[in-house]
Amino acid sequence: MAMGPVVHARLGLLKRSCGGSKARLNAQDLRRFSASAFAPQRKRAVILWVSPFGGSNPLPIKRIKPDSAVNPEKVNMEAYARLAAAYQARTDVLPIADPFDDFAKVLSLNRIMDVGCGPGRDVETILQKGHKVVGIDLSKEMLQLARQRLDAFLQQQEDPLGFLRARGYESKSIDGVLDAMFFQATMQGMPIGRPGFEVESYGGLWAVTSVQHLPYAQLPKFLANASALLAPKGVLYVKTRAPFDNQPKDLLECLETSSENQGLPFTRFFAYYVPSDFLNSLEQAGFSVVRTSKGPDGRIQYPSTNSGERGYKFWVIAQKK
Ligand SMILES: C[S@@+](CC[C@H](N)C(=O)[O-])C[C@H]1O[C@@H](n2cnc3c(N)ncnc32)[C@H](O)[C@@H]1O
Repeated sequence: MAMGPVVHARLGLLKRSCGGSKARLNAQDLRRFSASAFAPQRKRAVILWVSPFGGSNPLPIKRIKPDSAVNPEKVNMEAYARLAAAYQARTDVLPIADPFDDFAKVLSLNRIMDVGCGPGRDVETILQKGHKVVGIDLSKEMLQLARQRLDAFLQQQEDPLGFLRARGYESKSIDGVLDAMFFQATMQGMPIGRPGFEVESYGGLWAVTSVQHLPYAQLPKFLANASALLAPKGVLYVKTRAPFDNQPKDLLECLETSSENQGLPFTRFFAYYVPSDFLNSLEQAGFSVVRTSKGPDGRIQYPSTNSGERGYKFWVIAQKK
């Protein structure tokens, strides 16, 4: 099939977004890109986005409605397998989200689970702040980066085992601690009762931009798992994506292709949660809402650094009743 001018133009943009370097575009990326460019027109929204992380991101964000054969977990597992290193490079030095200290003040037990911990940035900070922490993620590639990061961090401590003992870890080796620190699991399919997932063994669950990948139908499963893991009065923090008012309703759950990570296009499943619906789901699951990110107009919407045309981030701290 001959490439039309539109496809040529988009390939040009793709190359430019990669700094013009052919080395950063592998054959698989080009195949995937061409396949998407030639794909039959399905219902989709295309939005141009300028990256707040520096440099422009000229590839349009493309959202399509997933058909019933799509497995969101599998799509995101594949995407994050390829994305892990670029995601780490982009987010490595972001500070922990603002409400962490308020969240930590009300912990009934000093053990926190980072749900969808990615490459472990917040796990390290949580540990540094004096807490015992476990990180779970669906992506083994992300977990590998997280483990490497924490290993390096612990090796830098003058007395790593003493540092860990002060936070409640009993293992006699760093490897033993790391084995009990990271688990591959999904938030909706946690093996409750197994090591790392003991009932009522956490004071808090910390979920930063991971629930945005959870299909609506699976939110009750995650909230039931959160409730099982949390001690009475335990707290849950969720930061996730909310849609703009004018975002097409049939694309709130979508396959989204964007290229903010080193210019390469990735397709992930996203679920944009309407804040009021999300708060209702929390109440129904036995949580009371403690604090939310209210914008200046009082709405529970809060533009984040990564909002742009991609909807808003909002966050909530809720307590198990
Ligand atoms: C945007 S990243 C956020 C990572 C990290 N929380 C941070 O703030 O940098 C989303 C992470 O959620 C993980 N994830 C996606 N769906 C998940 C699920 N159903 N259960 C557990 N983790 C999931 C992904 O593998 C990825 O590491």
